[in-house]
Amino acid sequence: MSEEKNKEELKGVSRREFLKDAGLVVGGATVGSLAFMSSCKTTTTVTNASTSTVTKSTTVTSPPVTTTLSKFIDPIDGTEWPTLDALKAHFAAVRPLAQLSGTFVDLKVNGADYYMQVDDMDTLAFVLRDKLGFFGTKIGCDNGQCGVCTVLVDGVPTFSCLILAIEMSGKKITTIEGLADGTNLTPLQQKFVNTDAIQCGFCTPGVLLAGTALLASNPKPTADDVRLALSGHLCMCQNMKMVVAAIAGGI
Ligand code: FES
Ligand code: FES
Repeated sequence: MSEEKNKEELKGVSRREFLKDAGLVVGGATVGSLAFMSSCKTTTTVTNASTSTVTKSTTVTSPPVTTTLSKFIDPIDGTEWPTLDALKAHFAAVRPLAQLSGTFVDLKVNGADYYMQVDDMDTLAFVLRDKLGFFGTKIGCDNGQCGVCTVLVDGVPTFSCLILAIEMSGKKITTIEGLADGTNLTPLQQKFVNTDAIQCGFCTPGVLLAGTALLASNPKPTADDVRLALSGHLCMCQNMKMVVAAIAGGI
């Protein structure tokens, strides 16, 4: 992800919007998941396997539109097929060397299944944000140095900018949008709010997910335990002291 693109993303985004992305309550208003509420930058077709719907975003400013799936389109030659199996058969027939298993993936994100096509070099961070609309997953350095892109993969904190989406088929992925239960924050999210463990909020989704994973395996971590668990995370606001204090000792 280019630095220019990141600057474009950050432009005009208020502190309140960052806090929304973090799935936190601000000023008494309930703010949570931004999934599917923000615009996508890439035209794509996504199939929710459990509901047979398509989420399709066509412009930078338009919100995703959900329609009933009636046809499957080969994104390369534009041919239309009545079923996914028919599209797969066509794909295999005209491109016998194509790696179907590397092109279609079954991503399980926050409890939902997304059977979708990805490019072989798409990172998980890119797919989560630009193809599925989970904008709570941030992208900072895009090369594994800041931790803001952290998601849980089968419960393990993972830098999604370093992982290819094609490697994630069948894995259980949790983004920040998957932590709160509707309007009910998790105890750790609420503690972040209560203890000012948030400044601009850009690092917050990553540290909340890493902290959640730490507490799952170690309910009463020491401050050093927390520092070790968050050693790959940077806070541009220099607020890591408050973050460590919020997680240390448990909830
Ligand atoms: S964006 Fe992934 S580690 Fe920085
Ligand atoms: S709160 Fe701003 S980057 Fe951490």
